[in-house]
Amino acid sequence: MNIHIMTLFPEMVMGGLSTSITGRAMEKGILSIEAVNIRDYAFNKHQSVDDYPYGGGAGMLMQAEPVYQCYQAIMEKQSTQKKVRVLYMSPQGQTFSQAMAEELAKEEELIFLCGHYEGIDERVLEEIVTDYVSIGDYVLTGGELPAMVMVDAISRMVPGVLHNNVSAEFESFQDSLLEYPQYSRPEIWHEKQVPPILLSGHHANIEKWRREQSVIRTAKNRPDLLEKAELTEDEKRLAKSVRL
Ligand code: ADE
Repeated sequence: MNIHIMTLFPEMVMGGLSTSITGRAMEKGILSIEAVNIRDYAFNKHQSVDDYPYGGGAGMLMQAEPVYQCYQAIMEKQSTQKKVRVLYMSPQGQTFSQAMAEELAKEEELIFLCGHYEGIDERVLEEIVTDYVSIGDYVLTGGELPAMVMVDAISRMVPGVLHNNVSAEFESFQDSLLEYPQYSRPEIWHEKQVPPILLSGHHANIEKWRREQSVIRTAKNRPDLLEKAELTEDEKRLAKSVRL
């Protein structure tokens, strides 16, 4: 998968994404992530990319032309004829979710557009953006952190990025349930014992226990998710007993 991130702060984006799992996927050639500096497409000698908004108001806006030229430069290098999705990070967008991450992970190319200042001239957004995406109901100073969050969540759904594809499947939000608690050595830590069932070696019982723990956690912490979960009658009773 090839990811292009249009930004005024390429070093911030690449610094974060070149480490850990996404960094390793880049080294292995499974992912290519490039941050493209919008400022390189400024058309004046001061390399400025912002200007005052027509009609007045606080702050500055990113101008249309540098953003458009930056986009064109990315598109010119494309071999694919397929329409490439351009994701604009904005609190006004649709809220990002695991389902969206899974859907976007199937794309061959993705372009992220990170805004700054008070936003971007609407006209270039109309021409190039295919999806407006928010990472939650709060306002950040720019689109870089949202883009990094999304790239991280999307990348780990790309086959081969995680060592163990099973872990991408069986975790929080799979089946709309939160993940069960996990334990590693030592068996007793701060006088707390690992649940004995996990030491039993009985895989069916362990699976059953983990599923129950997932139901209990979801009922306690995120009861809203339970509406979408497919629960057996026993599990429904268990969830209800937790919530009482
Ligand atoms: N830009 C500023 N705040 C944002 C948010 N919550 N999500 C996506 N982009 C943003």
